[in-house]
Amino acid sequence: MSGFLTNLYKYVSALAIIFKYFCTKISTMSFQKLKPEIKAILESENLSVDHRLSQVCEVLKENIPYYDWVGFYFKNGDKDELKLRSFAGEPTDHTIIPFGKGICGQVAVSNKNFVVPDVKAQTNYIACSINVKAEIVVPLFLNGENIGQIDIDSHTPDPFSKEDENFLQWVNERVAKVLS
Ligand code: SME
Repeated sequence: MSGFLTNLYKYVSALAIIFKYFCTKISTMSFQKLKPEIKAILESENLSVDHRLSQVCEVLKENIPYYDWVGFYFKNGDKDELKLRSFAGEPTDHTIIPFGKGICGQVAVSNKNFVVPDVKAQTNYIACSINVKAEIVVPLFLNGENIGQIDIDSHTPDPFSKEDENFLQWVNERVAKVLS
């Protein structure tokens, strides 16, 4: 019986790896297809910058199945806090986040991508919704300075890969061009 269970465990683990591999492949294809659309939105000079950022959030949320909330936070003036500027998804109470608090606040001081496969495993985490299982935050640099970030919440456990990080870095580089 235990041999059967061991084999079953191995089989399910192998299936999970294959499933994740194909999900990553599909995401990479989606990212490549989305890039021209995002570029066009950000270069639409007839739209306000806030409108462009909101549209980018909307396009990401609608096209990537595991992106359930997408938002841009920026440093709030000269305060050591982040302020939510644009988002797509359920409204959040956390429109202001002090530096160091939660995943977002930690990225404001670390200047590094933060991928959270399981939010329950984090102690310094600010919950926005009970449905959120995973989160990714990628800092946004302007002239080498960390001025904000893109934050994505997912209702899917452990959905993010290196491809998400690369894609979101690309999005942030494009956004920085608009803000410069
Ligand atoms: N979970 C974030 C707070 C922002 S919400 O996800 C919109 C955090 O821990 O910083």
